[in-house]
Amino acid sequence: MTEQSGTRQPGASNPFLRARPKDAAADPTGAPGAFPQVRMRRNRSSAWSRRLVAENRLSVDDFIWPVFVQEDAGTTAVESMPGVLRYGLDRLVDAIGPAFEAGIPAVELFPYLSADVKTPDCREAVNPDNLVCRAARAVKAAFPDLGIVTDVALDPFNSDGHDGLLKDGKILNDESLELLAEQALVQARAGSDIVAPSDMMDGRVGVIRRALDEAGLAEAQILSYSAKYASAFYSPFREAVGSGGFLAGDKKTYQMDPANSDEALREVALDLGEGADMVMVKPGLPYLDIVRRVKETFAVPTFVYQVSGEYAMMKAAAANGWLDNDRIILESLLAFKRAGADAILTYAAPEAAALLKAGA
Ligand code: PBG
Repeated sequence: MTEQSGTRQPGASNPFLRARPKDAAADPTGAPGAFPQVRMRRNRSSAWSRRLVAENRLSVDDFIWPVFVQEDAGTTAVESMPGVLRYGLDRLVDAIGPAFEAGIPAVELFPYLSADVKTPDCREAVNPDNLVCRAARAVKAAFPDLGIVTDVALDPFNSDGHDGLLKDGKILNDESLELLAEQALVQARAGSDIVAPSDMMDGRVGVIRRALDEAGLAEAQILSYSAKYASAFYSPFREAVGSGGFLAGDKKTYQMDPANSDEALREVALDLGEGADMVMVKPGLPYLDIVRRVKETFAVPTFVYQVSGEYAMMKAAAANGWLDNDRIILESLLAFKRAGADAILTYAAPEAAALLKAGA
């Protein structure tokens, strides 16, 4: 009987579901057998055995560390993200040094901009000397072998806090594309290795790919935030980049509805067709099902973003003594690997790297 016949018994081809306790041990199809011949606890009984049978492993090679930069010298703590700082350019290289030394492959740079450079036409986004470009140049000069990722979206530069241009209460798609392509260009020229469109405008990956190629930047990679949901988990980030207070309305006309899953596959298919090198699912832990479906459907580099709200929840609970900080960080990150993620953007990258090194 074939999968398509429609008359198939549920689970007929699955030996686990077909197994009956009395004949299971003898089942030649590989059914799991039954107690007492089978004892699942045997493999778990010692640390060395658990290590041998572990199916997934977290490594420093999996991490991208998102880093906030600010115009002002020095650092500023991000209140809703305990342990996270915004760095002035005088401090950025020193802050990234230990992460690079620890083996973290890449950082993603996010700018915090003051109100006076935010405009409705977002012109600062395409200024080759804007904060994120200066930061990329400084980091590339200091660490040529560290990957640099930059976010392509207008929100930090937009006086209304949106990722695209806003006119008469609507986010303009095609008009935003030109700016996004130009923004990707100035970032790549400044030393960004991977441009990461997070804006969710239709067609942006293709427009950015063409712009890069025409500018002789065919080697610049594109990490598309393909399945990015209109999520309540981004609030601490909006404090960190100072866009939250400016945001008029919500992002539901361009970011995805949390109710949807098939739609994520369509987004990913389109982005791959337009030239994305890697795709991303965001947020992370509440969307593990999407990570799994994307990885299984497309078998392409699939990244996941453990976003600011996820980080804030863990840190708040740990600060109260309700969760064990180190264990919860590592368990949450391992869950991404189990779901099929190839790389993870996480604010906890430096501490996770240190924990892994210490053998946690
Ligand atoms: C902006 C952007 C956001 C995040 C990354 N890029 C916020 C948003 O879409 O409003 C969220 C990251 C986080 O919450 O950690 N386009």
